[in-house]
Amino acid sequence: MKFYYLLHPRPVVAVGSGSIKVGEINFATVSWITPVSEEPPIVGFASYKENYTNSLIEKYKQFSINIIEDINLLWKVGTTSGKEIDKVKEFGIKVISGKKLDVPIIEDSLGFMECKLTDSLEVGEDIFYIGEVVNWEAKGFGRYGWEDISRVPMHKGGKAFAFAEKIKIIK
Ligand SMILES: Cc1cc2nc3c(=O)[nH]c(=O)nc-3n(C[C@H](O)[C@H](O)[C@H](O)COP(=O)(O)O)c2cc1C
Repeated sequence: MKFYYLLHPRPVVAVGSGSIKVGEINFATVSWITPVSEEPPIVGFASYKENYTNSLIEKYKQFSINIIEDINLLWKVGTTSGKEIDKVKEFGIKVISGKKLDVPIIEDSLGFMECKLTDSLEVGEDIFYIGEVVNWEAKGFGRYGWEDISRVPMHKGGKAFAFAEKIKIIK
């Protein structure tokens, strides 16, 4: 049993890295991601030191966070490396540019964030990347965030994903 499974299921995203203008783009799956500060808006995530994503984040000082429904695509970009293949071509990912940054965004995403790299921290086997959210958009959002929570994937562990069913609101 892995200690971190106590903190799963947890949101799982596709992190986009690289630059649209330069045409160097990659996506990788990440579930060890968290908001860190509301004002200013900051997110952070842990990325294994060997990930190709890291080299692009360090080169262009930016990344995107994409919330996508397609767990098969999450599995594909999370089990292959941009060091070996062009995932955008290989998996037919439709990519658009961010509005504030030229980060790659997955067109079909339910929502996305454009993040400017502000810091990075070496932690064990990972680099914890910290970025300021300079723009974000989401489809189907209400007072408490996602209106249809059954569409937003979480990672349970290995090949298992979870989709929430019930919202309980404190009276
Ligand atoms: C569901 C899922 C969740 C993942 N979460 C993380 C994570 O939080 N951090 C991480 O470094 N790798 C995570 N991975 C693994 C990376 O996505 C994987 O190593 C990927 O090949 C890295 O791609 P890259 O070399 O193109 O950057 C996850 C993979 C899957 C399938």
